[in-house]
Amino acid sequence: MKILVIGSGGREHALVWKLANDSTQPEMYCAPGNAGTAELGLNVNLAATDLEGICHWCRSKRPDLVVIGPEAPLCAGLTDRLELDGIRVFGPNQAAAELEGSKEFAKEVMASAGVPTSAYRSFTDADKACAYVRKHGAPIVVKADGLAAGKGVTVAETIDQAEDAIRDALEGNAFGSAGCRVVVEDFLVGEEASILALIDGENIALLASSQDHKRIFEKDEGPNTGGMGAYSPASIVNDIVREKVIHEVYEPILAELKRRGIIYKGVLYAGLMIHDNQPSVVEFNCRFGDPETQAVIARWNGDMLPALDAVIDGTLSNNLINWKPQPSACVVMVAGGYPGAYSKGLPIGNIALANEVQDTVVFHAGTALEEKEIVTAGGRVLGITSIGDDLEDALSKAYIAVETISYQGAFYRNDIGHRELRRIIDGK
Ligand code: GLY
Repeated sequence: MKILVIGSGGREHALVWKLANDSTQPEMYCAPGNAGTAELGLNVNLAATDLEGICHWCRSKRPDLVVIGPEAPLCAGLTDRLELDGIRVFGPNQAAAELEGSKEFAKEVMASAGVPTSAYRSFTDADKACAYVRKHGAPIVVKADGLAAGKGVTVAETIDQAEDAIRDALEGNAFGSAGCRVVVEDFLVGEEASILALIDGENIALLASSQDHKRIFEKDEGPNTGGMGAYSPASIVNDIVREKVIHEVYEPILAELKRRGIIYKGVLYAGLMIHDNQPSVVEFNCRFGDPETQAVIARWNGDMLPALDAVIDGTLSNNLINWKPQPSACVVMVAGGYPGAYSKGLPIGNIALANEVQDTVVFHAGTALEEKEIVTAGGRVLGITSIGDDLEDALSKAYIAVETISYQGAFYRNDIGHRELRRIIDGK
């Protein structure tokens, strides 16, 4: 059996790692992959956005399954194109992926479906958007409508910040065509967490909850990043919240999509703000989260492939998904300077040694092989992921492994899991 995973980040290394360890022992391919995926299969030198190249490769190599990691190829319609060629694909089609591809579409569908989310207005005219912000007041959230590589959201604490974000997007071309429209949303109070669900068009199976750490510095300070670490489960997503997420978020959104003729198949990521056990949707993503996937997959007990197959075949059930009771933690190591400018090509030492730490896997993100040496090749470089008897144990293993690894300018947060640790100390 041949499986091709599309993408090159930590999420994709985690997916390749899990699928490579499936009891059916599939042959793994990853396009374009990184130095970590190269250890588990064959990297295919095609960018995730090279739809033409990927379709051509699949027509010639006939993989039994393609798993699409990032949002860009999903929103560009890679699933639709591969399915036309008779290839089995895990990932929503282009119409369904629009839940991530357009913030305005997502808001409009949520409003029609009655899904709890913040009030919003969308604008293509900067003066009108700024006038709305001045009337409304701050804090307020400004989002570029389209895909902006995780950089399109500004949580503005002042009206000036909101106006700058609006003008950057609509007049300064900061996000290209993704920023030709902005969505201006009310600021939500609460604690953020992520919950992902597998969906087979009909059935919904929630995955384990997790919490990402989006800011670069400890205490959640500094600019947003793609994610500096995650842990699973996040106890803020308790049983009450999980029930509400199924009945108030997933069921109505899927019904509303269906009413519009859109069938969702794949994984749907709900970014939530939770306040007094009430979840509100901050965003939908049409893919697995990164680094949430690394933390969640580390806890997946047994094979994952049957669940992915069931999503495609419309036979999904919760019985296909089992979790290890141990919590997990993923600590992301980044390049010095990230999320601003950073160097690439720096040799990374001691990954093998770090992998020897008990219950720990070093997932590669921005890495590459240069003349058999592993070097940095991106902003987020590695995601060191451990499970433990409790969260403290998982974090302690992950940080021992992190401290083993060396490259020039390596940076990471020392406080991954801080909210959960505080809850544990407070006995909540
Ligand atoms: N960790 C945030 C995301 O995957 O979008």
